[in-house]
Amino acid sequence: MRKYIVAGNWKMNKSLPEGIQLAKEVNAAVETAGALKCDVIIAPSFLHLTEVSKVVGKKVSVSAQNCAAEASGAFTGEVSAAMLQSAGIPYTIIGHSERRSYYGDTDAILAKKTGQALANGLKVIFCIGEELSQRDSGKHFDVVKGQLENGLFQLSVNELKNIVIAYEPVWAIGTGRTASSGQAQEVHAFIRKTLADKYGQAAADDVTILYGGSCNENNATELFSQPDIDGGLIGGASLVADKFIKIVTAF
Ligand code: 13P
Repeated sequence: MRKYIVAGNWKMNKSLPEGIQLAKEVNAAVETAGALKCDVIIAPSFLHLTEVSKVVGKKVSVSAQNCAAEASGAFTGEVSAAMLQSAGIPYTIIGHSERRSYYGDTDAILAKKTGQALANGLKVIFCIGEELSQRDSGKHFDVVKGQLENGLFQLSVNELKNIVIAYEPVWAIGTGRTASSGQAQEVHAFIRKTLADKYGQAAADDVTILYGGSCNENNATELFSQPDIDGGLIGGASLVADKFIKIVTAF
């Protein structure tokens, strides 16, 4: 059975002391919340990863926000999957729309990054989602399908076990304009069907599919009640421990 997950993507926010403080607050809130229905992940910047790892317990996992497409060598400014693995980081996000649109991360690059991450024992939170113009012209299903086919479908069914998918419609990210639970569920069901067509229903049923895009403490319960929405990838609301813990406990 697939896991529920709530993951906080801190993006390029928080100084190192602020990040350590936030991680401590999230950890304390998770500890006092008792039994949770979901796994909890926080994704601070590369700089924070090892320090944040030291202040969280077993109930909070730490994720990178990106990793290099190459294994090692002359790639100034990059951080390899092997480096993350050596620092004890279990997850990395790959393919966030901000990476795709601002840093030129194409499907082909993302497929290489995913390969690096999996080869180094990391689990991947793989992000997909359409832009507003693509939704307005009714192309969102084709866009999402293409991102899956070109970014992930090189993987074996066994490798798919280490993939979490995050559906993040670009028009909902940081805009306060969340997808309705119906809109999100429709695409999540389509993603699962696309996975089932390629890998079989049993494998597709085991994949955790997160929703991201203006998910917050007020709309999380409604979104998470949908049958194919298995949690959230949270941006802005993950930067405040009180808000984030309300989302973690929204199932
Ligand atoms: P917001 O929750 O700030 O809309 O960001 C979503 C996101 O991009 C998470 O990766």
